[in-house]
Amino acid sequence: MSDNGSKQTHFGYKTVDADKKADLVADVFHSVAAKYDIMNDVMSFGVHRFWKRFTIETAAARPGMKILDLAGGTGDLTAKFSRIVGPQGSVTLADINDSMLKVGRDKLRDRGIVGNVSYVQANAEALPFPDNHFDIITIAFGLRNVTDKNAALRSMQRVLKPGGKLLILEFSTPKHDIMKKVYDLYSFKVIPQMGKLITNDADSYEYLAESIRMHPDQETLKQMMIDAGLEHVDYTNLTDGVVALHRGYKF
Ligand SMILES: C[S@@+](CC[C@H](N)C(=O)[O-])C[C@H]1O[C@@H](n2cnc3c(N)ncnc32)[C@H](O)[C@@H]1O
Repeated sequence: MSDNGSKQTHFGYKTVDADKKADLVADVFHSVAAKYDIMNDVMSFGVHRFWKRFTIETAAARPGMKILDLAGGTGDLTAKFSRIVGPQGSVTLADINDSMLKVGRDKLRDRGIVGNVSYVQANAEALPFPDNHFDIITIAFGLRNVTDKNAALRSMQRVLKPGGKLLILEFSTPKHDIMKKVYDLYSFKVIPQMGKLITNDADSYEYLAESIRMHPDQETLKQMMIDAGLEHVDYTNLTDGVVALHRGYKF
């Protein structure tokens, strides 16, 4: 609580009023939207593509399924799911940020991905979908930006069908000290400089590094998923735990 009694949360390493965080996160993604895809490739040396491919494989989607790609941004996962579920299925790309949604929609339309994809501007904390609606929900590199993560997890659990699967791909905590050191150096010294060069915005990429450090580690997120009502929750570390893919089911 702050002096004026309002609830506090983290925005990277800063402590801010909880009701201000969504606007601050929105500023970050409005600022980086146009260059988001190229920055992802440069920052991760293209490795984000492998993390996303692993997520798609783990999802094991089938033709006809209904999928929610939450915090879907520029639509990398949506594009892949759209091909898998085919004309009988559907993919909803939901994101709170209209700049990211617009870049995603334009990119997918340019690639001819139309028909089974819809775009919804929504906050993960209060999803505007009926109960028991989706076969699979993915949220990739989105959860750490959400103010009330527990509310978001409960909301995802609510809209998942019984038998459905939630996959959370997110930066996490590296397992080995040497990797932690290299990763710290890289994300605090190199990434903001890259951000400055490519997007003219070092601050947003400083937030990225800080928000990763503030995000719950593997075991904490696993417990949060269980608390939200998900079952058979587990995770796989990727790149020594720099990223983890958590999965949970609703029964
Ligand atoms: C790092 S991007 C990830 C985009 C995409 N999923 C990917 O993996 O490339 C994070 C996305 O989360 C979205 N986001 C942040 N807070 C959100 C919230 N509360 N509800 C829904 N989306 C949110 C941002 O607008 C942004 O598009």
